[in-house]
Amino acid sequence: MKKPPVSAGIVSPSRAVPVQIARPEYAGSGVPGPYKLSCVKETDDQIARMRKAGRFAREVLDTVLAEVRPGISTDELDLIAHERIIALGAYPSPLNYMGFPKSICTSVDEVVVHGIPDSRWLVEGDIVNCDVTVFADGMHGDCSETVFVGKVDAGAQKLVEVAWECLIQAIDVVRPGRLFNQIGLVIENHARENGFSIVREFTGHGIGESFHMSPYIAHFYEPDNTAKIEEGMTFTIEPMISEGVAECLIWPDKWTAVTADLARSAQFEHTLLVTRDGVEILTGGRTPWFLRK
Ligand code: MF3
Ligand code: CO
Ligand code: CO
Repeated sequence: MKKPPVSAGIVSPSRAVPVQIARPEYAGSGVPGPYKLSCVKETDDQIARMRKAGRFAREVLDTVLAEVRPGISTDELDLIAHERIIALGAYPSPLNYMGFPKSICTSVDEVVVHGIPDSRWLVEGDIVNCDVTVFADGMHGDCSETVFVGKVDAGAQKLVEVAWECLIQAIDVVRPGRLFNQIGLVIENHARENGFSIVREFTGHGIGESFHMSPYIAHFYEPDNTAKIEEGMTFTIEPMISEGVAECLIWPDKWTAVTADLARSAQFEHTLLVTRDGVEILTGGRTPWFLRK
């Protein structure tokens, strides 16, 4: 039997952040500061702070993913993440970012990105992407993984596996001097070879003192983008691939993006630092949760 589409649940009130925790510029107004034209080169102190933000994001994501099981609501996952972030003395970056109401994003099955945690329970057979971004010591760290809820069908396993391989293959092309368009090229090739489409509406992004910065990172091949990767840049790669069409629709909540044909979609994300001769993954290792234990 075909699963019913994901339906919206009830969104609980935004969670409070203690006053002593430092907030990003949009925390009060919802409005992010100016989009910086280029991702700054990191000084040593900035690198240390980026590493810390990345480490925190990873720790929180691990905490959340360990709780994923049939019967837990995405709102409960949001609570777990929120409390862990605050215990670390950090701020949950999504909270009030352009009005986003919760502390993480949870995207189930056909939800591509920006799912709002709500009262819906996870169900055996779902796949769910949990996306955690934290603001710590003035820097943002951003990562996500898609995991299985209980047992999933073979199609879901293949989709999640290929999404992960797309991210890892893309990370492996990152080094100073390479063209940014090589990232999208390897992702597009790998997804297509496996019969999946690549979402174009959402991209990776520079990250650091702001949540979203230049450069944007396309996950598909852009032959005319001849910008070069430079040492010291910090940015995310976060490919979204789908079983069906690449086009997305947005729910009336103005956030939740679903595939236009309601086919499933999967995503993985890391925050990266470009080093002198390669790349450092700031948000953890190369073993995703679906391959652990
Ligand atoms: N973490 C998401 C990203 O990877 C952005 C979430 S923005 C929010 O860029 F407002 F939806 F939280
Ligand atoms: Co991101
Ligand atoms: Co993210």
